[in-house]
Formats: sequence, C-alpha cells, structure tokens
Amino acid sequence: MANSVTMLKIKTFADYQNEYKQSVENPEAFWEEKASHFTWRKKWDKVLNWNFKDYDVKWFVNGKLNITENCIDRHLPTKGNETAFVWESNFEDKPNRVITYQQLHDEVCRLANVLKSFGVKKGDRVCIYLPMIPEAVFSMLACARIGAVHSVVFAGFSAASLSSRIQDSDCKVVLTSDGSYRGDKTINLKSVVDEALETCASVTNVLVYKHTGASVNILSGRDIWWHDVVPQSSDRYEAETMDSEDMLFILYTSGSTGKPKGVVHTCGGYMVYTCYSFLNVFQYNPGDIYWCTADVGWITGHSYITYGPLLAGATSVIFEGVPTFPDAGRFWKVVDKHKVTHFYTAPTAIRALEAAGLNYVSPYNLSSLKVLGSVGEPINEEAWHWYNKNIGKEKCPIVDTWWQTETGGILISPLAGITKTKPSFATLPLPGVQPLLVDEKGNEITGNNVEGNLCIKFPWPSIIRTTFGDHERCKQTYFSTYNNLYFTGDGCKRDENGYYRITGRVDDVMNVSGHRIGTAEVESAINMHADVVESAVVGYPHDIKGQGIYAYVIVPSTQKNHDILRKEIIAEVNKVIGPIAKPDKIQIVSGLPKTRSGKIMRRILRKVAEGEISNLGDTSTLLDPAVVEEIVKTRL
Ligand code: WT7
Repeated sequence: MANSVTMLKIKTFADYQNEYKQSVENPEAFWEEKASHFTWRKKWDKVLNWNFKDYDVKWFVNGKLNITENCIDRHLPTKGNETAFVWESNFEDKPNRVITYQQLHDEVCRLANVLKSFGVKKGDRVCIYLPMIPEAVFSMLACARIGAVHSVVFAGFSAASLSSRIQDSDCKVVLTSDGSYRGDKTINLKSVVDEALETCASVTNVLVYKHTGASVNILSGRDIWWHDVVPQSSDRYEAETMDSEDMLFILYTSGSTGKPKGVVHTCGGYMVYTCYSFLNVFQYNPGDIYWCTADVGWITGHSYITYGPLLAGATSVIFEGVPTFPDAGRFWKVVDKHKVTHFYTAPTAIRALEAAGLNYVSPYNLSSLKVLGSVGEPINEEAWHWYNKNIGKEKCPIVDTWWQTETGGILISPLAGITKTKPSFATLPLPGVQPLLVDEKGNEITGNNVEGNLCIKFPWPSIIRTTFGDHERCKQTYFSTYNNLYFTGDGCKRDENGYYRITGRVDDVMNVSGHRIGTAEVESAINMHADVVESAVVGYPHDIKGQGIYAYVIVPSTQKNHDILRKEIIAEVNKVIGPIAKPDKIQIVSGLPKTRSGKIMRRILRKVAEGEISNLGDTSTLLDPAVVEEIVKTRL
C-alpha cells in the first residue's frame, strides 16, 4: 500500500465530484486515506487540529517521516535507474545531464554529509542561492534529509535582498556557485554572496559550486569549493526522523506592507498535498516527461519542480536558461528534443513568445505534448487561445493553476482531460479546498455570476503555518481581514457554472511578469536615493508583463536632469531588490494626491497610470486637488 502514490489519481469527472464531496463532508477521513499512501516512520495520532482565530494549524499530528525518503528512497527498488531529471543547459550545444533516482540519492546523501560536517543540525537554516542546475535540487533535498530548513533565494535578487533574507532566518550556511548564466548574461553570484555576507554574522560556511569558471574570492575558513568536499563524501545518509509539523522550508514573498516575509511550510501536510495535486492536476503517467519552466527560487519550483514530481516518481526536465535565448524558439526546441509531454509555464512567457511570432514555433513538431499548464498570474483569453492553438494544437488541455506561496500547492485548477476548461478560468477547487467569495464587509456572496474577494474557509494540508519569527504577522496578514477565513488577497469571479476566474490582487501587491512585488518594497528602494523625498508606486496593465511598475517620485528641486535621475533611481532599485523590480515608468512630480489625514490616494495614481484620466472619481477629500492636475498633465 505504501508504494502506491499513483493510487491518488482521480480518473473521471464523476470521481472528482465524488472526492470533492467526501473531502468537504469528512476532511479528516479524506486526507487520512490520502496520507496512507506515503512512507511514514510513525503514524499520526490525529489528522487535523485547526483554529483560524489564533491561527494554529497542524496536520497529521505527531506523525513522523522524512520527505526525502518519499521523494527518493522509496522509488529506488523499482526506479533506481530511471531518470529523475534531465538538465538542459542555458547553451543549447552543451550536453545534457541525466540524473537517475539512484544518482539523485547518492548526490543528496553526499551533500547531506557535507552539511553535517559544517555543523548543520536539525532545525538550522541553510540559504540556497544557486542557478537552475541540478545542484539546486540536490541542495534542497540534502537540507530536508538532515532536517535543516532551506531558504532558497532566487539568484536574481541583489546582495541587499539576499542579506536581509539570511539575517531574518539566521542562516548558518550558504550554498551557491561561482556564477550563473541567463541567456547571454553571466552573473557573478559568489561576489553577490560576498557582499551580502558583510552584514550577516550568522553564516559560518559557504559551499561554492564551480559552474561558470568565473574567478572568485575564497575566504579561507569560511568558503569551500563543492568539488573539494562533495564527491569524496559518503553516498549514504540515513534520513533524519522529522515530525509532520517540523519546518521543511522558509520562502520569502512580498506583501502589501513591509519587508518580504518568510512563509513557513512543514513536512507532512506539504508532502501529501504537493504529490496529490501534482498527480491530479497534471494527470502524470509513468513514461511521461514533465517540464516546469519556473525557477526553484519561487514556490512553483519548490512544489512542482522539486517535491511534487519526485514524490510522484516522475521524470522532469530542468532548464537553466530563458525562453528567448538563443532565440524565441528555445522552449519549443527543448520540448521536441526531450519529447516533453507536460509543459508548465507562465502567461508572461506565453505572451512574449506570441509577440515574437509564429516563425519561432513552426520549425518544431510539438507532437509529444499532452498537457499544458499556466501559473503565476491571470492568463488573458488571447494568450490562452494562442497557447491552445499553436502549442497544444487544440488537443492538449490547458490547466490554469491558481495558487500562492502561502498555499504551498495548487488550489483551483482544472484536472487535465477531466475538467472541461474555459479560457482564463482556473475553473474548480481541488478536493479539500473550500473557496468562497466575500464582499468588503466579509459577508459571503452566494450564488453564481458573482464577484468578490477570494477566501478559503477550511485548511488544506499545505497551508502556510507561520511567517518565520513573527506569528502575529501571519495572523494579521491572512486571518484578520475576515473572521475565520484565510484571505488570499485576490479578487475573483464565479460564473454561471460555478467556475472561478481570478482577476488579480486587490491589495498593494503587484504581479510583474509573474513575479510578486510589493509596492511598498519598491517605494522604500526608490526612497533610498538621496534626491528622493517621497514616492508612490502602482501597477499598470502591460501587454507582456501583465503588470508594469509605475513610480511617482518627488524630488526637491528640478536641477538634476530627469533622465539621469531616472537611471539612478533604477540603479538604486537594482541594488536594493534586483532587476525584477525595475520601474517601467518614473514620473517626476512635485506632490502626491493625499487626503487630509495624509494618506496617499492610490486609486487616483492607478487610474492615471492606466491612462483612465477622464474619470478619476471623487477627489473632494484631497488636501490639494491641484496636485492631480499636474500629475495628469505630466503623465508618461
Ligand atoms: C499570486 C501568488 C502560484 C505560484 C506562483 C505565484 C497570482 C497565481 C494565478 C492564476 C490568476 C494567479 C495571484 C496570487 N496567481 N496563479 N492561475 N491565475 N492569478 O505565487 O508569487 O505567491 O503569487 O499570483 O494573484 O495571489 P506567488
């Protein structure tokens, strides 16, 4: 029984309806059965304890397990020689690397032994700052194997961002590489780490993987080359016994206020839910080749590159590069080369490749494809149809998967080939997920053909457990807006058939090329520039990125050339956050529209950024209405 996660698969729409009903009527019995298909060292005493008021959720209480045993060891007797990952380099002429489940086991154990030799113990935090190479996945699993908590930081974040994340979670070790390739760019990651560590006292060791051959500084006693210690370590490591609710990882994500928060996921529930959702949404079958184009620096990479697929014993492609290098046909070339059956990407990539033209698609056959996925932002109808027609050739179901860093796994999505799809609709909740729409006051909006704020009323196994080091913030952010509900921050429609369409964030969080960025974060980066008095940032519709970043900036005098100032502000944002948060437009203004109580009226700024200047709404509460006239007049 324990060797049969494939038994978790729903096969028909009637099955789905039946499972859904069971999951709502008796969630504990439902998830107890699902969990029974995994390897546990000790069975749980109770399936679920929960309380949304003081926020406390525990799944599979007192159960003991190690997730890597489920990702790797349990597959070895039957799939030791099967491919876990095929790695495709940034450069198309570089040979692939093939990693079997047995090799994955050996690499993870070697690295686990090295981490242990650094003095890393169960519960310690380890920061991973690596490019998309198999070592990134080995690193996550090596941490999980010894019970350390990984905190993966996307390797596009700046030294300042890296440093604040390392500090917040008090990491002991950093795993990195000399450099990384992204298209035609090379980034010297180790030097970013060096700079970050100037302000991080907690880090005792840095393990450096040689990838680009860039010259690096090795600080004796702290920095160690990967190739000097990993290959000669033992390829055995008995996995640590973990409690269901022990921390598995921390992943930082942006909110509407303050610094990014460390979202915490734990071992047991996350394991059950990522595997269950992976198998059911994608309908993965043995022999299929799955490719998720995300980076392990985001939750999509955690749940649907590393954990979900490995728990299911799948074969996946890991890709180091970008969609447009050496040209906009790269994705499709890789699909043909590896006979990819399941392809999972973000709408921003689809739109960018659509804009490049069909000449980049037509050389490729794409006949291996069976299922297409979309994630990270609303997929507009046009992009959906382009994807369906030109990539899926109208024979591949598109799974538009809605979820969040905090949800750990996909919550609303079609099940491939089972749920009838509808362009731009994430369709129906997975079993175990109970969405509801509420109005501003928190009253439930019942019936169909309605719109409201999306909440979830019952815990699912991979729900966020806390924000690292600050439980109050977790409670405040997700469980205080509406009584007894998890609030997602998203607006949502429900159509006449009960299908859900996520319309986007209703808070001050932007979604730029599928990256989640808080307006407050960008503002505070801009304000670091010595000439900036104040700034206000809003998102605006962008054809490719979904949303672009529009910044209104007050500078005291107009002496400095505005173009130079704009360049400097962009450089500041690069330095404080990273290139993903670069403002697309910077409007220099002499004032911001504020209420008499000093609150910035973002509604007006959003309208101006969108170009909707004919109807700015009620401006009567403004302190100085003339500011609005100026802003409209000088808008970009
Ligand atoms: C936000 C979460 C989920 C992994 C990647 C993003 C938006 C995500 C969809 C979708 C419409 C979506 C939401 C959500 N979002 N998927 N299929 N349709 N919007 O994770 O960085 O935590 O961002 O991304 O606004 O709240 P994240």
